[in-house]
Amino acid sequence: CGIIAYVGHQQALPILINGLKRLEYRGYDSAGIAVMNPDLTIYKKKGKVINLEEHALNNKIDSTIGMGHTRWATHGEPCDRNSHPHLSDKKDLAIIHNGIIENYATLKQELQSKGHFFESDTDSEVLIHFIEDIQENLNCSLEDAVRIALTRVTGAYAIVVMSQKNPDLLIAARKSSPLIVGVGKDEFFLASDATPIIEYTKQVVYLKDYEVAVIKNGKLTITDLQNNIHDTYIKELDIELAAIEKGNFEHYMLKEIFEQPKTILDCMRGRLLAEEGKVRLGGLREYIDQLCNAKRIIIIACGTSLNAGMVARYLFQEICRIPVEVEFASEFRYGSPVIRDGDVVVAISQSGETADTLVAIEKAKEMGAIILGICNVVGSSIPRASHAGVYTHAGAEIGVASTKAFTAQLTVLYLIALQVAKEKGTLDNEKYRSLLNELDQIPSKVQTILDNSYLTQSLASLYLDATSMIYLGRGYNFPIALEGALKIKEISYIHAEGYPAAEMKHGPIALIDEEMPVLFIAPKDHTYEKVVSNIQEVKARKGKVIAIVTEGDVVIKSLADHVFEIPETDEILTPLLTVIPLQLFAYYTGVLRGCNVDQPRNLAKSVTVE
Ligand code: G6P
Repeated sequence: CGIIAYVGHQQALPILINGLKRLEYRGYDSAGIAVMNPDLTIYKKKGKVINLEEHALNNKIDSTIGMGHTRWATHGEPCDRNSHPHLSDKKDLAIIHNGIIENYATLKQELQSKGHFFESDTDSEVLIHFIEDIQENLNCSLEDAVRIALTRVTGAYAIVVMSQKNPDLLIAARKSSPLIVGVGKDEFFLASDATPIIEYTKQVVYLKDYEVAVIKNGKLTITDLQNNIHDTYIKELDIELAAIEKGNFEHYMLKEIFEQPKTILDCMRGRLLAEEGKVRLGGLREYIDQLCNAKRIIIIACGTSLNAGMVARYLFQEICRIPVEVEFASEFRYGSPVIRDGDVVVAISQSGETADTLVAIEKAKEMGAIILGICNVVGSSIPRASHAGVYTHAGAEIGVASTKAFTAQLTVLYLIALQVAKEKGTLDNEKYRSLLNELDQIPSKVQTILDNSYLTQSLASLYLDATSMIYLGRGYNFPIALEGALKIKEISYIHAEGYPAAEMKHGPIALIDEEMPVLFIAPKDHTYEKVVSNIQEVKARKGKVIAIVTEGDVVIKSLADHVFEIPETDEILTPLLTVIPLQLFAYYTGVLRGCNVDQPRNLAKSVTVE
């Protein structure tokens, strides 16, 4: 979900609507705003921000304060009624909320027994009723009522509260859900991330968990829940507006796919010193010894980031000789994890806000593990919860399906593994040097693939009516099979499964008939011959084979229905190349099927609930 709020000297409505459009990638089943017009008034609509905009523009709104929310449903179906903002019982307080109030049911009962009437099924509405109830019972200020209420709720929240009686007051707070304060000239912004505010100001304050920001009479005060004043640290954002706009591309996803030669290069800049034969990762300096001496690495992540982690398992085991376990963050936390001395936990996350990953980190930390974070969003929660880490520097990723963040995560993982292998001496010098040089050349090889993107487009046109697909790969490219299948599911809603190529014969082979496209990721590597046999097994059952192969491959070309060639590189680095045609294939399939590729149904960019 996304939050934007404004108070200052400008009209709030355009800031809120623009902001919500920029935040739409975070959640998009409904949207709403609250303004003072001149009374506290709420407009909300199911569906995209454009619906809300049309609805709001029909009303003359004159307000220099307001807040807006775009929702990804947790409690209650997407509908006008469940959209935010929500009002208190007396209708003079309004709230927008990201996250989840876990003890809402008991609070709701308590409040209902006192005569409160609820209009929605949401936990957020309960919170604003609760705040109102506290304020009335204790006869305290709204700020105090918010603080007290927040000490009594469990769960996660980023909230903004407005009040009819205090028309220039915004109160905001967070716990486990992101919220930043933008500081302009005589104006303030609140937002889930920087995208809706960078066109107005680059000065921001990252709120910490349990902090409350009160903006009143043009002044910002930050306290904790006990009302102790905290210092206000203003930081400068380092993103440009152009980075979050589509430019000449039809979709963000396509723009981000095409940015990859640059983002991979940005990610290596100053870190990969190929000529000197060095890797330098400043963010790991203090923990590199622990990493080299790690008895085990545990990687935790979700979605696409998890697939990057799975590539890293092969990598760290092969070149650093460190055992690696890769776990769904959500399964790690509640799976009675065992943490031993010498374990290093690596958390991977584009947004740095994924709740499943955050709680897994907290659990591992509690148990004494060292946490290293690999994240894209600077200043987000996961880097702050980690002992050390490396940013991926891929720039803002707006397309909901992750592309450039994935290849940047892989790049960071390669850099880390190479540095560790060098320090541990687990890789001979010649191989180390050649991997550095190969990595250095990846951006231009990615460019070569992109130059042939039209081939993936014509492939997509042949298979867009498929109802199901199988993606197969081995070793380093088994996780790429998973990622390719995930992309096509997310973007085109075609059911797809990723499998280790050899495992196909133990089950999925039963699905193969002339209707079933099977996508092989089959570059020349040490399992190549075996993958060729797997291709023959599919052909023998009349399946349609599409294969990603190393340029010049004639064997697979003679077997497969279609091939897409990638430039040659070291087998260890192939995932950085093989994934690109799969991203493009998913993109074009989605577009040809008429899907909203930037904002696929039911998904959200950053899932801040468990
Ligand atoms: C969501 C997104 C996925 C993403 C996953 C993990 O489900 O839709 O694209 O891979 O979260 O996100 P993270 O920000 O932690 O990488």
